[in-house]
Amino acid sequence: MPVWLKNARFYEIYPQSFYDTNGDGIGDFDGIIAKLDYIKQLGFNALWINPCFLSPFMDAGYDVQDYYKVAPRYGTNEDLYRLFDQAHSRGIRVILDLVPGHTSDQCEWFKQSKLPYRNEYSDRYIWSSNAWDRPAGYSWVAGNADRDGCYMLNFFLSQPALNYGFNKITHPEWQISYTDPRVAGTLQAMMDVMRFWLDHGADGFRVDMADSLVKNDDDKSATASLWRKVRAMLDKDYPQTVIVSEWCNAPRSINQAGFHCDFLLDHWTKMVHKAFRNVNEQGVNKSYFCKTAHVSAADMLGDYLVELQQTRGNGYISVISGNHDTDRIARYLDESELRLAYTFLFTLPGVPFFYYGDEIGMRYLPQHSKEGGFQRTGSRTPMQWDSALPNMGFSSAPQDKLYLDVDRSADAPNVADQAADGNSLLNFVRQLNVLRSGCEDLQADAELAVMYCSDDGVLCYRRGNSVAVAFNPTDAERTLPYAADDVLFQTGKATVTGLQTVLAPQTAVVFTLK
Ligand code: NOJ
Repeated sequence: MPVWLKNARFYEIYPQSFYDTNGDGIGDFDGIIAKLDYIKQLGFNALWINPCFLSPFMDAGYDVQDYYKVAPRYGTNEDLYRLFDQAHSRGIRVILDLVPGHTSDQCEWFKQSKLPYRNEYSDRYIWSSNAWDRPAGYSWVAGNADRDGCYMLNFFLSQPALNYGFNKITHPEWQISYTDPRVAGTLQAMMDVMRFWLDHGADGFRVDMADSLVKNDDDKSATASLWRKVRAMLDKDYPQTVIVSEWCNAPRSINQAGFHCDFLLDHWTKMVHKAFRNVNEQGVNKSYFCKTAHVSAADMLGDYLVELQQTRGNGYISVISGNHDTDRIARYLDESELRLAYTFLFTLPGVPFFYYGDEIGMRYLPQHSKEGGFQRTGSRTPMQWDSALPNMGFSSAPQDKLYLDVDRSADAPNVADQAADGNSLLNFVRQLNVLRSGCEDLQADAELAVMYCSDDGVLCYRRGNSVAVAFNPTDAERTLPYAADDVLFQTGKATVTGLQTVLAPQTAVVFTLK
């Protein structure tokens, strides 16, 4: 296990929207380099950059055309290597996005696979037995190649599924076992891609749709066995690099497949959703951190605590503030609620991931879909660096040339204003980073044990042996049956009376245990 993960705090950058240095209206690598000092001052020590490879951008780069070449809109491969160096010189690690389940239909591998004669890439994708054969239960494209077959999709129309074989064989005429040497080349090709970027300075990968490799693999055991090979390669040759899965099933991802971290995504049964974005069909916000929700934390914590226990010692659950697929957290929680939600995020075990702009409470900005974003587009808008119109410090391009429109409403939050205000949300996030990085019991490995969880919304948990964290997210006063008298950090107000602590509305307090 890479040691640095113990105190890693990741910041996710959607590169299109972070900072544009050449005035073409879209973010670039030099823009990320220019803002590394900002990220460091904010307190993050690791970055995840969304896919930045050559792509027709039918899915914002999750449709890779060439795994070995960056997209010219961001710069050159050499610029990315420089970004690695510049980040490393500031103590910041950088992980890239690996998309192993599919490529773009413009990828050279796929162009070869479409040819009507056998070649090295014929088995690299999944083809049915002829152009009329579209077996039920899968997503196919028919009539789009000279090859006599239909090809399987992994996500959008432009993303044919790479072939890692099948676990349960139901159609022997076209399905190949995941153990068959004919599909071994796919995993080998992906490991070669990983080696290339690791050799050039990347510190690991966030792995897109990590559970999607082997088909007909209900218990994911075959997919896990492939990731174990990847993990063995990393353990042997790149022991300080990490793989973080988009899986959202920690026992499978961590225990079975060998990922170092697994994302806890905004799935409606999961803790991240119940804590931050739980709006019911009537539009009522029942998120634990919504001040009017008044819900017990027990339901929210549910299987998170179980998965934490099951994976303890093997890897980390990564709780996210949001990501490029999820509605901005500020769509559901106001600023005072965000402070409590972020205190929660930064005091949980595992490795936290924070989405760019959430430190200033960037809003969800509805607009037309761009590059396969659809409703996700509103969470991908340009970073608001200052209040200068028209582009809020993001770019010098004319307003109508921006990749996405920027939030230029009069009260749109921005970095410059918040950096200058000691009480801002941005400075609150900075303080949380300082708190966590200076206290081992708040970091990845320390155990979490719930000390108190009441029906009226109070939650208190112990981290390691020395620290406890208590929350009253509601808009009413609450009482905690412990004396929180050695306060390390607080938002709101905690008042100790004898063996109890009165928590004013919307209070979070981190205190030392005697
Ligand atoms: C998950 C990614 O986060 C998302 O943005 C993408 O569209 C799909 N996987 C397909 O790659």
